[in-house]
Amino acid sequence: MKPKLLLHGGAGNFDKNTMSSDEYSIRLETMREALKIGYAILERGGNSLDATVETVVHLENSTYFNAGKSGALTWNGVAELDASLMDGATKNAGCVSNVTHIKNPILLAREILNSEHVFLTGFGAEEFALQRGVEFVSQNYFITEENLSDLERVKKANKVILGTVGAVALDIHGQLASSTSTGGIMNKRPGRVGDTPIIGAGTYADSTIGAISATGHGEYFIRSVAAFSIITRMQYLHEDINLATKEVLNQILSMGGTGGIIGITPLGDMTLEYTTPGMQRGFVDENEILVGIFEEME
Ligand code: GLY
Repeated sequence: MKPKLLLHGGAGNFDKNTMSSDEYSIRLETMREALKIGYAILERGGNSLDATVETVVHLENSTYFNAGKSGALTWNGVAELDASLMDGATKNAGCVSNVTHIKNPILLAREILNSEHVFLTGFGAEEFALQRGVEFVSQNYFITEENLSDLERVKKANKVILGTVGAVALDIHGQLASSTSTGGIMNKRPGRVGDTPIIGAGTYADSTIGAISATGHGEYFIRSVAAFSIITRMQYLHEDINLATKEVLNQILSMGGTGGIIGITPLGDMTLEYTTPGMQRGFVDENEILVGIFEEME
């Protein structure tokens, strides 16, 4: 099986006219780096779960993406982070929400996947992280110039800033996996949880059908059970992954929500669809590595 890896760095109201060429280049370069890290794991025979986790860790560590380091802040200025992952080979899953001191929430989600539980939240999740040796940071780590100014902007303009990061992969063993991580929606109410840590909404993987990771207005993705709906459309309606994804995104649009989805099948067919002005996204396989934010990919 030829390996393949896709990522998204969030769908949103990106503006081609106001984004500086420096910022554009850094965003693309960070996605290329993340793809290379994940693909190196796949190339040496590693599994899709590890590849998606390491891809997401790289994006969590950047200040340009709404996850980890520069995760969106609540209206009182706190980063409450969510993440989940699913192994399509075993259907094991790990989910975490509302953690405030975990440097890489996706690494904590993986520890949860390897435990007797599926979903841990808040204080209990951090206590578990301590037992498992997951890296802690102070709240200050998450407070960057970028997300403070975004928080002020959102408060003034009362608009929604979306974002999330995620990756899906097919490994040489024919197995699929999905990982997703987010700070949620900027200026969110403390305690609010979106689709990202919810299996079937923001993340899903079944190696016989597909692996999905979503980004967008989480409330709508939860209500439409977005990731699992794509899987069931493929399974029962025999839609290809691109059609199934478009149908679900259109359904979300008709409910009033926007966002984007990446997905891959066991045959390596893929989708990178969005209903926002742009989506940070990319993929890598044996032939090429392509990234983009707007229509064109390079
Ligand atoms: N899609 C991320 C969120 O709504 O929290």
